Parts: sequence; C-alpha cells; structure tokens
Amino acid sequence: MKRSVIDILDLTPAELEELLATALDIIDNPEKYAHACAGKKLATLFFEPSTRTRLSFEAAMHELGGAVLSVTDAASSSASKGESVSDTAKVVSCYADIIAMRHPKEGAALVAARAASIPVINAGDGGHCHPTQTLADLLTIRRQKGAFSGLTIGLCGDLKFGRTVHSLINAMARYENNRFVLISPDELKLPSYVKKDVLAERGIPYEQTTSLEDAMPQLDVLYMTRVQKERFFNEEDYLRLKDSYILDMAKLKNAKDDLCIMHPLPRVNEIAVEVDDDPRACYFKQVLNGKYMRMALILKLLKEAAQ
Ligand code: NCD
Repeated sequence: MKRSVIDILDLTPAELEELLATALDIIDNPEKYAHACAGKKLATLFFEPSTRTRLSFEAAMHELGGAVLSVTDAASSSASKGESVSDTAKVVSCYADIIAMRHPKEGAALVAARAASIPVINAGDGGHCHPTQTLADLLTIRRQKGAFSGLTIGLCGDLKFGRTVHSLINAMARYENNRFVLISPDELKLPSYVKKDVLAERGIPYEQTTSLEDAMPQLDVLYMTRVQKERFFNEEDYLRLKDSYILDMAKLKNAKDDLCIMHPLPRVNEIAVEVDDDPRACYFKQVLNGKYMRMALILKLLKEAAQ
C-alpha cells in the first residue's frame, strides 16, 4: 500500500525505532543494502533551494542501488508554466517509484501525496515542517545521548519560521520527561499553534527566553538555527535579526561537558567556526546521519508500497 511521510507524526514511535535500527544496521553493514533498491527510481522535486537535503536523498538512493531523477529548480520545470503540484505529482508517478519533494508553500507535499500514486516524502514545505531533518536529528540525539527522554532541549534562533524546529518539537514531545528552552528574539518566537497544541496541551514544561547565556548551563541539547531570510517580508527586519545569536567558545563556558550542539545547516553566522573542533559539536555528524535515515525511510516506504 502506498504510504507517504508529510509530518514526523506520520511515523509512530515504534516505526521510528524500526528506522533507527535499520539506519544503525546500514552503518554497520552497508554492503547488505547496496542493491536493496535496484530497479527503483527516486524523483527529487526541489522547488526551493537545497544542497544537503537533495544530495542526501540522492546519495541515499544511490547507496541503495537505485536510480535518481531530479528537478532542482522551479524555473526550469513545468511549474513555471503554471502546472499545479497535483498534476506534477501525477505525472512524476508515471516515471518514478517514490518522490522527495521540497516546496516553498506550506501543505504542498500533502497536496502532492494526495494526487500521487507513489509514496511522497516531504523534504520541507515552507515554514511548516521537515520530517526527514528530524530523522537526522533523532539519530544524532540517540547516538550522542543514548535516549530520547529526560533531556533539556534548547532551541535557539528563528523558532517562528524554522520548520526543523517545529518537527523536532513534535517528535521529542512524544517522549517522557523532556523540557524545552525556547531561545529567540521576541519577533521570532515559536508559533502559538506549536506552543499551545503540542507543549501546553500535553503539559510539557517549557520556558521562553531571549538569553542564550542564561539558558546554557541547564541544556543537554542545543539546537541552533538560521534566521530564515526567505520567509521575511522585508529585508530590514532580516538584517536586524540575523545575528541575534552567535554561539562561540566564550558562550560555551558554562555549558555541560556532554552538551550536544546541533544545527540543521546551512549555517550563516549562528555558530563560530572555532566551535567546530569542540567534541560537543555534532552538526556535521547530523549530515551523515541524515543520509542513513533517508536510506532507511526510502527502504521502508518502497517495501510497504510493494505489499
Ligand atoms: C533546513 C531547512 O531547509 O529547513 N535545512 C536543511 O534541510 N538542512 C534549515 C535551514 O534552511 O535553515
């Protein structure tokens, strides 16, 4: 049966465990998976800029022995002629076995999934969500911290438009005894639909602050994010807010020794390059983990589609 992943909550905690187990097995035994998707095609439809997410999906499919068809630019596709997302999804269903799609509009991946006859993976829909980045984040947290519960998780930067933040909160809110520290300028606070419907609704403790330094000592995970320039309505606001938080070694002075520093990348100025050599920096590990989790997800969805 065809199954799509639009939101991280489309996957149950048990399915997440299954994906994590597959990813860890791929890391240990890559040769076992080298031909697992032979004869299958992944179409990457990216109507918004991306480097790592698209390449990560494509590398994932190659490492599974499958092939890749790619649209990398809305301007060079029929979308520029006015084709709807639904029609594009129907057309691509005739060529490929699975779609990974990124689109600037919230809800676009869901529209594509409803029209497509093959599985659709949401690779980011506007400021809404980004479930496969969360899969990368979860494998990183599991490998670094050993568990998904009992953690104080700081999210810092653009919590309003940062789709990776919304998906990660949704995912981590399902585990016990986690606390969130929301660090942002007033203008970029977490949207109330996430705060109320996810955190308050379930009685999950959280605090909001503008100070990264004050939050630092209590954090087990620090998730830095880029101010999402492309979602701003005016350049002036972006320029004023873009360097609100810059993590450097001085700010890490009061951090825990086992802090896990994350960032979905691309980084602009949010983390000083000097932090890269600190053993607590995990953002390049996240990139690699993302490829393994995408491999696990492609495998699972293609397997289910064949049943
Ligand atoms: C993120 C995204 O696209 O939302 N990037 C990514 O996929 N790794 C974060 C960002 O662009 O800031």
